[in-house]
Amino acid sequence: SFEVKKICCIGAGYVGGPTMSVVAHQCPDIEVTIVDVNSDRIAAWNNPDLSQLPVYEPGLDIIVEEARGRNLFFSTDVSRAIAEADMIFISVNTPTKNYGKGKGMAADLKFIELCARQIAEVATSDKIVVEKSTLPVRTAAALKSILDNTGNGVNFHILSNPEFLAEGTAITDLLSPDRVLIGGENADAIEALVNIYARWVDRAKILTTNLWSSELSKLTANAFLAQRVSSINAISELCEKTGANVDEVAKAIGMDSRIGPKFLKASVGFGGSCFQKDILNLVYIARSYNLHEVADYWDQVIIMNEHQKRRFADNIIQTLYNTVSGKKIAVLGWAFKKDTNDTRESASIYVSDYLMNEQAQIAVYDPKVVTERIYADLDYLNTRSVDENRAQLEVWKDPYEACKDAHAIAILTEWDEFKDYDWERIKENMKRPSFVFDGRKLLDRQKLESLGFTYYAIGE
Ligand code: NAD
Ligand code: UDX
Repeated sequence: SFEVKKICCIGAGYVGGPTMSVVAHQCPDIEVTIVDVNSDRIAAWNNPDLSQLPVYEPGLDIIVEEARGRNLFFSTDVSRAIAEADMIFISVNTPTKNYGKGKGMAADLKFIELCARQIAEVATSDKIVVEKSTLPVRTAAALKSILDNTGNGVNFHILSNPEFLAEGTAITDLLSPDRVLIGGENADAIEALVNIYARWVDRAKILTTNLWSSELSKLTANAFLAQRVSSINAISELCEKTGANVDEVAKAIGMDSRIGPKFLKASVGFGGSCFQKDILNLVYIARSYNLHEVADYWDQVIIMNEHQKRRFADNIIQTLYNTVSGKKIAVLGWAFKKDTNDTRESASIYVSDYLMNEQAQIAVYDPKVVTERIYADLDYLNTRSVDENRAQLEVWKDPYEACKDAHAIAILTEWDEFKDYDWERIKENMKRPSFVFDGRKLLDRQKLESLGFTYYAIGE
């Protein structure tokens, strides 16, 4: 059996940071070191000012405050942390490949392979290596091959332990998960990881499987979740044509216990770093086994999501008398969902870019996303020059300024504070007619209409 005294986590991102902070918090006798090659990120994790942590998550600051410096450490010294650890989590990014074979579809595994090679090179004692990143099914076989062929003759045991936390609720998801999934071959290695989670998770919720089931379950879970959003979004368009209300439909079907009420909120489209990437990866894997019907089936979830973002933007243009050229449009919310500062694949990016192609002037307000991030997201698309992006899009620290003199407001993230704004004051300072396009069905139609807004919401 294995005794785990020291843990190393490679990757101090949205998953590695919160996940391993919670492990350290719950296991004061285990030393947890989170390492990253990004020294700015590590410096931010070490910032004494807890409001400056690189990841915003409700409750994370308290967890970090309690554990940091006690048994939780953030460092750029990757090799040292690997050498000292009994158990190593790999939690690096696995983005969609943007070059070569599988470009735009497959997961880019170069960061994973670098980790494996570094572990093999540095390790002089037996290690349990845990896949925390989301990986294509059968990646553990590749990892094992690299570790065994380039290592120093020590034993490596590979486990798959995918992470199911959602951003914005990461801390509560980690503290009371629906389940913890651990895939592996070696019973002792599996037991070592089970024993860590069992400190705070009911053993009945700790599921152990073979490696491949575990790896594939993560991609499958995200595909099913995203599919629910695309399914309700598909119905939202039909609602707009027929007089049905998508929230009423969602409630009616969700009360069927076989369907369930969660994850049926129609929206401007799902964002986030996971859903699109993981479905594209699933589609790619299915095609690589020549399972074209399987691939086409899941591909449709992405196609529907693209359509939802596009038609939301198109509706704005059409409603504003078929031109938004030179018109100010306020975008409330840049994060891909509330309670996070993460903007990866956020619908706001695509809706704004689309409107900017029509020469709209965009004014953005988001309570947690920094200005540089917003410009970086736009610049990354390469649609227009860096200067043009700054000329056509302004970022405001005050929502009332963002909405001033706007022809329309687009609500693209469901931040709670948007509900509590002084909408009368916003109305007074807008152009007339004053349009609100609610991509989150967040506001109260009756209230807005009584203030004189022309209110459009998804699926109504
Ligand atoms: P992220 O980009 O926020 O963090 C990854 C970090 O790894 C970066 O800081 C990067 O600098 C670092 N890194 C990359 N290569 C490295 C190396 N060789 N050595 C040291 N550090 C290295 O990514 P994330 O959102 O934390 O996602 C990580 C993984 O977890 C992905 O596979 C993702 O699919 C999966 N996942 C993400 C979520 C989520 O909600 N974000 C949820 C579940 C699973
Ligand atoms: C997702 C999975 O939920 C999580 O289990 C996995 O570990 C990582 O990927 P995340 O992307 O952080 O988590 O957030 P999630 O709450 O799933 O939302 C994803 C996107 O779908 C957001 O843009 C959200 O606004 C949207 N969404 C979600 C809807 O539009 N409607 C819904 O009913 C639910």
